[in-house]
Amino acid sequence: MRRTIVAGNWKMYKDTHEAALFVDAFLDRLGALPAGVEIVLCPPFSALFAVGQRVRRTRVRLGAQNMHWEDCGAYTGEISPPMLVDLGVDYVILGHSERRTLFGETDDGVRRKTAAALAHGLTPIVAVGETAAQRDAGLTTARVVAQTQAALEGLPAGAVAKIVMAYEPIWAIGTGRNCDPEEANEVMRAIRGAVDGLAEAPILYGGSVKPENVAAYAACGEIDGALVGGASLDPNAFAALIASASVPE
Ligand code: 13P
Repeated sequence: MRRTIVAGNWKMYKDTHEAALFVDAFLDRLGALPAGVEIVLCPPFSALFAVGQRVRRTRVRLGAQNMHWEDCGAYTGEISPPMLVDLGVDYVILGHSERRTLFGETDDGVRRKTAAALAHGLTPIVAVGETAAQRDAGLTTARVVAQTQAALEGLPAGAVAKIVMAYEPIWAIGTGRNCDPEEANEVMRAIRGAVDGLAEAPILYGGSVKPENVAAYAACGEIDGALVGGASLDPNAFAALIASASVPE
């Protein structure tokens, strides 16, 4: 179902103490934030329990940054969907470009993980995006449509509608060079048209989203919110960003 979502991807930042300090400060600001925005915090695995305990009775949802597709087994270093469910996790980021480029994650792996997340009642946030070279070569749409179709292959439209997509141009991640909102909006239109069921699914923009630029994305018809890295690490910045992210009536 399309809805406004702001998800903070903490990446490999914050130990349990730092995570707890963030949540305590952030929850102080929660009452002032727009009720229509779904807020998701995605700490590293090691802080999921601490954050989950603190947000349990609030409207803040818990997200993970990755998972394996199997329920259990000899997969040293991996975390399974039931383990995330056990920790109170609702969302899981899958196929982030850092996983794809730095850890060899493939389209097929993302497809297996997406199906496994849905089978366990987790909402996958499936990330797609093009490199600067692909963009310069005019390949953006072809690239993200191919990634989207590969990740969602074989899923019925009803299941696809439960997914959250995230369009994160790789050249915009952590660079301060955010994608022009109109350009992102057009790419998202292509993503939405790529697979049956995505018309009903939220699509988030990610890549140097800040409190100052989020409103321009929220105003675009195809953009349902943001997947935020750096600006989600500070409770004041993250709260300010959410305050500016609700869709103007
Ligand atoms: P930044 O907001 O730091 O550019 O990171 C974006 C991102 O990768 C979120 O998943």
